[in-house]
Amino acid sequence: MPDGGNLAVTAKRNGAQALVSISDDGRGMTEEEARNLFVPFFTTKSDGTGLGLAYAQRVINEHGGKIDYATARGKGSTFSIQLPLAVGA
Ligand SMILES: Nc1ncnc2c1ncn2[C@@H]1O[C@H](COP(=O)(O)OP(=O)(O)OP(=O)(O)O)[C@@H](O)[C@H]1O
Ligand SMILES: [Mg+2]
Repeated sequence: MPDGGNLAVTAKRNGAQALVSISDDGRGMTEEEARNLFVPFFTTKSDGTGLGLAYAQRVINEHGGKIDYATARGKGSTFSIQLPLAVGA
């Protein structure tokens, strides 16, 4: 959101899972962007590496979690992360 916007971050517990949601009211994604979101080095930014989401997904997967997204053109995008809580947490 280069011209500013709202970013909402929430975290809650659901049984043995932590649920983290990160929601923006930016431009949303094209179909091509959505398809390539987690592909290393895919970027539409002039100064992007395209590694942010690929790396995030890898770290989350290696912790036994998962990351999903939802997006609407012109309205924004939401990333939802599920992570298993540590035993005894
Ligand atoms: N919240 C979002 N809204 C719209 N498009 C997004 C969003 N997040 C990612 N994208 C699209 O997915 C691409 C890849 O994102 P990713 O975070 O992996 O890398 P990047 O942001 O381009 O680069 P860097 O990680 O170096 O900042 C972005 O370039 C953009 O096209
Ligand atoms: Mg990024």
